[in-house]
Amino acid sequence: MKILVAITGASGSPYALSLLKLFQKMGQETEIIVSHAAEKVLPLETGFAVPDLKKFTTRLYFEDEIAAPPASGSARYRAMVVIPCTMGTLAAISQGFAKNLIVRAADVMLKEKRPLILVVRETPLNRIHLKNMLAAQEAGAIIYPAMPAFYHRPKTLEEMVDFFAARIAEFLGFEITNLKRWRGIV
Ligand SMILES: Cc1cc2nc3c(=O)[nH]c(=O)nc-3n(C[C@H](O)[C@H](O)[C@H](O)COP(=O)(O)O)c2cc1C
Repeated sequence: MKILVAITGASGSPYALSLLKLFQKMGQETEIIVSHAAEKVLPLETGFAVPDLKKFTTRLYFEDEIAAPPASGSARYRAMVVIPCTMGTLAAISQGFAKNLIVRAADVMLKEKRPLILVVRETPLNRIHLKNMLAAQEAGAIIYPAMPAFYHRPKTLEEMVDFFAARIAEFLGFEITNLKRWRGIV
């Protein structure tokens, strides 16, 4: 089964690229949906334009393709990851406001009881953001904030981003063999 990767217009699009490359390396097929805001933020942060994403995926959809397969529970995806996830998309998901293909697909994942990971990114968080995260989590989503770790001593930004993406893949049940794990302070 494929994994659905949705990219919205929050800062953190390098995480999406890293996760897509990792899935491809592991032979995991993906489909991608991009929001209009992501079409602006992705090139700004990565130098990749949206059409460049085609080399990492089987299908690329835009948010207004509301009749595309991810809009229906019958399409059956293994999981969906919204990475990065804006506060706007979080709000829509948490309220069931299926305004575009990303939110509709997330809505489907929740109703079909399939894994939905929201890599939310904003700082600081206001009360609305926090309440929406709780509502989404209570509805079955996994709130997986874009918070990189430092304990593995990343030497480059790429290492930091790749570690974070690998942890998401691991959370979804993939075996990541070369991950530097926390072994306690000795
Ligand atoms: C460079 C840039 C960075 C942004 N970063 C964030 C962010 O980290 N979190 C967020 O919630 N919105 C962020 N935004 C605002 C969203 O892109 C905007 O609210 C947009 O309407 C969200 O639409 P979408 O959820 O459909 O992608 C950013 C916008 C720009 C231009």
